[in-house]
Amino acid sequence: MALNKKSVDDFNAKGRRVLVRCDFNVPLKNGEITDETRIVAALPTIKKLINDGGKVILCSHLGKVKEGPNEKESLAPVAKALSEKLGKEVKFISDYTVTGEATTAAVNAMNEGDVILLQNTRFRMEEETKPEKAGEAFAKELADLCDDYVCDAFGSSHRAHASVSVVTKYVREKGGNCAVGYLMQKEIDFLGNAVENPVRPFVAILGGAKVADKLNVINNLLEKCDTLIIGGGMAYTFLKAKGYEVGKSLLDETKIDYCKEMIEKAEKLGKKLLLPIDNAVAADFPDPIDAKIDICYVDSDKITDDVMGLDIGPKTIELFANEVKNAKTVVWNGPMGVFENPKLAEGTIAVAKALAETDAISIVGGGDSAAAVKKLGFADKITLVSTGGGASLEYLEGREMPGITAIQDK
Ligand code: 3PG
Ligand code: MG
Repeated sequence: MALNKKSVDDFNAKGRRVLVRCDFNVPLKNGEITDETRIVAALPTIKKLINDGGKVILCSHLGKVKEGPNEKESLAPVAKALSEKLGKEVKFISDYTVTGEATTAAVNAMNEGDVILLQNTRFRMEEETKPEKAGEAFAKELADLCDDYVCDAFGSSHRAHASVSVVTKYVREKGGNCAVGYLMQKEIDFLGNAVENPVRPFVAILGGAKVADKLNVINNLLEKCDTLIIGGGMAYTFLKAKGYEVGKSLLDETKIDYCKEMIEKAEKLGKKLLLPIDNAVAADFPDPIDAKIDICYVDSDKITDDVMGLDIGPKTIELFANEVKNAKTVVWNGPMGVFENPKLAEGTIAVAKALAETDAISIVGGGDSAAAVKKLGFADKITLVSTGGGASLEYLEGREMPGITAIQDK
């Protein structure tokens, strides 16, 4: 499925002010960036615009900014990291209004090939466009800064925010280009192809704690894939729906019927739906999460009242890994167990390894599974580690993505 959207290759940015919305929402610890993936992923588009001779104005949100603008959620560390990676100064405009006088002055002073980074867009409450927050006005201010707009913020493309989608209305109004960047293109090409036009067999692996978070993605992927594998905390509601006792395992009583429906749907469609056949169990949830813990392995039909399942067991690992071996496309989202605990990380590690070892197209989406793959050093062996957490999930759900919709068709 080729993306039929205008891209950065469809116009020349020479002499033009180009506003680029990135997702620089990176994890920070004591002011240091602990994972630069999203910064590295944004470089190709930025370099292309510099080479064109564009005036590159970068913007992004960072964090949730619940208490209003503050230095802890400033994008200053990102400007520093970008300068190092590009080998040229990325001027940071720490204007808490994002689009105020300091910003306008800096933009007016730009030469061709210059790059500046604006302050955290969520420092403006209006960014998260709700009518009462008057996001339209902020979007227009952003549009006033530029001639063209490029969205390369795949990780934020599920948000109908001022800098992600509303801004395009005003850029278009004045005849500017609205295009996607290379990162957006890559993510959409791979995720879109995997789901809409997969090389088969297509195996989807879903994990994570809660069924409720994955209702739509389970439903949608069941229709598209050949095999759906379910692990993680949410597997226990499925096991319960199949009539097993799950002891103290995480269970969402309100979703048992939903799980039954999905099991029936799989049967009706002739799809394989795989659940854990054995589990790592313990008497209690580890507290703190990485505490030493005594575990043992029990089959899924032998979970007793006094234990909870916290990871998939060795037989399940083999079952899931074999399925991956026979696949031509694999999409994975969500850990198989409480992977923060070394004793309960084996299932998640095994799935990451299976994806790294296969020659199939392998796609990892979602913060936790992407982090696991990176931590294990497998990222290079995966076809695409998505920079989107919530965004990749919504994309896999088949939902409309405001950040994509807002871009002009070719
Ligand atoms: C993310 O990391 O999930 C994206 O940057 C979007 O951020 P948000 O979930 O705070 O909107
Ligand atoms: Mg999020």
